[in-house]
Amino acid sequence: MSVMDATALYRIAESYDHWFQRRYVQGKLATDPAYAAVADLVARRPLPLLDIGCGIGLLGQYLYARGVLVAYLGVDHDPRKIEAGRRALRQSGLDKTVPLRLADGSTAYPLRGHVAVLDVLHYLDKAKQRELLDNAVAHLAPGGMLIVRNVLRERSWRYAATRVSEFFLSASGWMRVGAQHYPSADELHELLEGAGLRVSIRSLHGRTPFDCYLIVAEKPE
Ligand SMILES: C[S@@+](CC[C@H](N)C(=O)[O-])C[C@H]1O[C@@H](n2cnc3c(N)ncnc32)[C@H](O)[C@@H]1O
Repeated sequence: MSVMDATALYRIAESYDHWFQRRYVQGKLATDPAYAAVADLVARRPLPLLDIGCGIGLLGQYLYARGVLVAYLGVDHDPRKIEAGRRALRQSGLDKTVPLRLADGSTAYPLRGHVAVLDVLHYLDKAKQRELLDNAVAHLAPGGMLIVRNVLRERSWRYAATRVSEFFLSASGWMRVGAQHYPSADELHELLEGAGLRVSIRSLHGRTPFDCYLIVAEKPE
């Protein structure tokens, strides 16, 4: 897996305007393998990317710095995150290249390509997960990939550690809503294969103690 050099990582972190966010971004980009995994997949087949639940726009910044961004739209329903992300992108002169929009994840756009849904699903109940994933699938181009990173419901110490950390995240107020429903691998296989996609799932916890998986669902060409 390719990684980003320390200078580019530092530049992204410094574009955020609170020291607390800068430290968070630096730590996240240095330890979380999800962004590099998405960049590697997109680099193999460059297409526009819809980033559902984009938060403060880290994936867009990362893909741009890695030189693999074709076209991008990030959407999130949390105004604080969208505003923080937009301020950082303006600061880097990237607000036009990496646009962020305040919207629910089930909103339709004229973009067709890949779709990323990183660490979002478990904040929704089962019905809303389905709605968001159906919308994500509708944005795939032929050969496009739906790239989901999520905790999956299973029996493991990593799953228990993740649930504890989610409790503290929600208590801190950083996430507006706490975890609602952790999907299982079987649930995602059934839903995405039912939509005609080829699905593969692999573990992706990197150097974190958390229970994370990368789910790649590809639309046949
Ligand atoms: C843990 S953050 C992940 C942020 C980003 N994907 C990343 O990995 O850097 C989860 C994000 O999903 C957003 N989110 C949750 N439910 C959503 C929904 N229904 N529509 C849009 N965004 C949503 C939250 O506001 C939050 O910013």
